[in-house]
Amino acid sequence: MVKICCIGAGYVGGPTMAVIALKCPEIEVVVVDIAAPRINAWNSDHLPIYEPGLDDVVKKCRGKNLFFSTDVEKHVAEANIVFVSVNTPTKTQGLGAGKAADLTYWESAARMIADVSKTDKIVVEKSTVPVKTAEAIERILTHNRKGINFTILSNPEFLAEGTAIADLFKPDRVLIGGRETPEGQKAIHALRDVYAHWVPVDRILCTNLWSAELSKLAANAFLAQRISSVNAMSALCEATGADVSQVSHSIGTDSRIGPKFLNASVGFGGSCFQKDILNLVYICECNGLPEVANYWKQVIKVNDYQKTRFVNRVVSSMFNTVSGKKIAVLGFAFKKDTGDTRETPAIDVCKGLLGDKAKLSIYDPQVSEDQITRDLAMKKFDWDHPAHLQPLSPTSNKQVSVVWDAYEAIKDAHGICILTEWDEFKNLDYKKVFDCMQKPAFVFDGRNVVDVNKLREIGFIVYSIGKPLDSWLKDMPAVA
Ligand code: NAI
Repeated sequence: MVKICCIGAGYVGGPTMAVIALKCPEIEVVVVDIAAPRINAWNSDHLPIYEPGLDDVVKKCRGKNLFFSTDVEKHVAEANIVFVSVNTPTKTQGLGAGKAADLTYWESAARMIADVSKTDKIVVEKSTVPVKTAEAIERILTHNRKGINFTILSNPEFLAEGTAIADLFKPDRVLIGGRETPEGQKAIHALRDVYAHWVPVDRILCTNLWSAELSKLAANAFLAQRISSVNAMSALCEATGADVSQVSHSIGTDSRIGPKFLNASVGFGGSCFQKDILNLVYICECNGLPEVANYWKQVIKVNDYQKTRFVNRVVSSMFNTVSGKKIAVLGFAFKKDTGDTRETPAIDVCKGLLGDKAKLSIYDPQVSEDQITRDLAMKKFDWDHPAHLQPLSPTSNKQVSVVWDAYEAIKDAHGICILTEWDEFKNLDYKKVFDCMQKPAFVFDGRNVVDVNKLREIGFIVYSIGKPLDSWLKDMPAVA
């Protein structure tokens, strides 16, 4: 019987392994993690991450062929295939700080695999790693143990949070990279057989190791680039009277461009796009390719510009000051249908408004007060390091309150900032909202979810990314 062990029970390890267990009932799958609270949550009725459809999949397999454990060494030792799905954040210190991937967690996982293994294993890179990481990992694995064969595969994950289960059930493709040696090819076939339980074989792409590693970084860079491209257009739309939704639709119907990832917004977030592009930039620099590095760096610069532009628009519209004014922040997660706040644009927007002394009342249906408090207190790039996964005691920030109801957040507010596209924000009773706000009542829609004309009829002053400006806003100083 094949036994799979996955190191790292996070947003990728948990859902991916749950789906493998569901689709391959004859395979035993154990997900291990050093974070006991995370494992306890996976074994409870309240899973540590919110993901539509995940509860059902876990309930069907947990205790049968899907297990969650902190006994990392035992399960790694027993497995034939070991996935490594640990976090690979941006380095915060030392060489490459602020750009390079921090492979501390990956390396310690690899050393542990080398130490505890007594049988041959296929080691699968599931984490997103710099191209050529497999070479370093191979050295670590083979250095410590003589007589045990480790075969490394790269199998990057392309799921998107919020649709992880649907993506895993019906992936556009599964990518497996391996060495072009007989052992490498044998390992590729073994992993392909696992996915072939439910993925059509023509969607399982097999490449060399370096192509697979680089494809993941390239895919995220291309996706983020589309968002920055449309966001750059949104600034030009506001300046000219064009409507970014009409522009997106017009270009997206071109089959060479396609309609996806063309929604203008306050900016992209999530744990991957920024860190993976920074990582790509660093790799280009290390390979003597500064022009290529600068090209991709611009995708992040435009994203930062978009967040700053949004904050500036809020402040300048409200008579150039938000000091002491209550602003309702609707949505904190980096996108809808997830509770994940890693690199969410809401952090930078809230910090910008707090810098101008606003009072924030924040509501998100899936994000706790503790998480929001921690995010707003944290330094850039610190969020993905396990020490910070430990709960901090909430700091008392009198400028911020977190509430569990949108109307509570909005009561007596001068303005509303919509920062996540949760469906419920489309369907608020905006007449009721208007009546309970200070006047003039402002709505700053960072996700283009509201019906701008309807809200203007009610009496709101509305700013929507990339849409023709309200006459009020046109009279305000231009923002940069
Ligand atoms: P995560 O932070 O949610 O989970 C990583 C887990 O690994 C943590 O629970 C941590 O405690 C555990 N861990 C770290 N070192 C360990 C060790 N030595 N032994 C055992 N457990 C250890 O991270 P997430 O989001 O699941 O991402 C994992 C990797 O997958 C990253 O490289 C990320 O870039 C990549 N990825 C993430 C996607 C996402 O949407 N979150 C999508 C595709 C790839």
